[in-house]
Amino acid sequence: MKFLLEPGGTLSGSLRVPGDKSMSHRSVMLGALATGTTRATGFLEGEDALATVAAFRAMGVEIEGPEQGCLTIHGVGLQGLRAPQAPLDMGNSGTSIRLLSGILAGQSFATTLTGDVSLQKRPMGRVINPLTQMGAVIHSAEEGRPPLQIEGGHKLRGIHYDLPMASAQVKSCVLLAGLFAQGRTSVTEPAPTRDHTERMLRGFGYNVQRENGVISLEGGGELTATDIDIPADISSAAFFLVGASICPGADLLLQHVGMNPTRIGVLNILGLMGADITVQNEREVGGEPVADLRVRYAPLKGIEIPEAEVPLAIDEFPALFIAAACAEGRTVLSGAEELRVKESDRIASMAEGLTTLGIYNEVRADGIVIEGGPIGGGAVRTFHDHRIAMSFAIAGLRAQQPIEVLDCDHVATSFPGFAELARAAGLQLTVQAD
Ligand code: S3P
Repeated sequence: MKFLLEPGGTLSGSLRVPGDKSMSHRSVMLGALATGTTRATGFLEGEDALATVAAFRAMGVEIEGPEQGCLTIHGVGLQGLRAPQAPLDMGNSGTSIRLLSGILAGQSFATTLTGDVSLQKRPMGRVINPLTQMGAVIHSAEEGRPPLQIEGGHKLRGIHYDLPMASAQVKSCVLLAGLFAQGRTSVTEPAPTRDHTERMLRGFGYNVQRENGVISLEGGGELTATDIDIPADISSAAFFLVGASICPGADLLLQHVGMNPTRIGVLNILGLMGADITVQNEREVGGEPVADLRVRYAPLKGIEIPEAEVPLAIDEFPALFIAAACAEGRTVLSGAEELRVKESDRIASMAEGLTTLGIYNEVRADGIVIEGGPIGGGAVRTFHDHRIAMSFAIAGLRAQQPIEVLDCDHVATSFPGFAELARAAGLQLTVQAD
């Protein structure tokens, strides 16, 4: 499937993008490990989150739905998972494989975790290392790539782990393994990353402490089922935040967007670039801040992106690169080497497409420099990366010629219905078979 963008169009009206991917994964994992029945609403019915659902079903957890965003998980308790009959296929989902590694390292049975071509290229040493220190035994393909074979029956012990990179997946993996470990497990991170695991564990009644930057928990407790209201994913909203910002005449309301402070780097960065975004109707839903965002066109200017914002906007850079392409002057990103190990190497993938569209850029080991200018047209590759596909789709709003975005099937991993929603808001997008 590919997207075809006619130049022009605008974005207006009011819409709600699908549920937060990080929270959707965690609601299944913690719901499965809890005692009692958990109901999640606003659940993301995307392939990544469904891979997590399938994995827990394969381990004997009864899960109803999802139906219109409602998922009911009949928890089996921390010791209630059963050995799956076959390897667990995590598809494209890094969050599933890394967080599940932590949970499975502490089980009495063995499991194999695998995934699609993209996932099989992604580094898992970052979770194998701390889990091995905790006493787990994990075999991988070359250079720590999936598939991962996790031996069962090894008792875990709590450790302190100083994260070598700012990664919420690694932090969460260690903390989840800590639930099954003897004693205290603690982590420190080089920079704050999304804290949904910590918040949600507390929501399930688990005592997670944070003192002087050290996050810790004691193994052997219990999770108690709860209801979870999952807000719209700010990472999916990002395409519309950028789209409306770059498109003269645009005026768009994004409803019920998750505003967790560890996720709002995209708003901070767009704000520095001169975007016109108003935060309305701020409220708290199930322990997470939520708001409606009104975004209108504004001329953007190039900036040096503060490095402290990088982990807080880590998934939004492909969209932000389109904002940079439409800004006056140059935008400089550094300290973002983690972008190279996402669903694709997002610096290289975006650089190639931007060049195709006539946008001057300089690739660096840990970032990119983008010079704003007129966006042309052409065929861009996505490297099977959902966020690359959606970013180049919104570039159509400022393009002078048609843009063809190739290989867009993976959009459904995080944003089912993107094409329809974007078209309803005014993007001139058609979907075509390859
Ligand atoms: C996620 C953490 C981030 C992010 C990913 C989701 C999570 O990955 O890119 O889309 O849910 O914990 P890293 O931990 O690799 O930065």
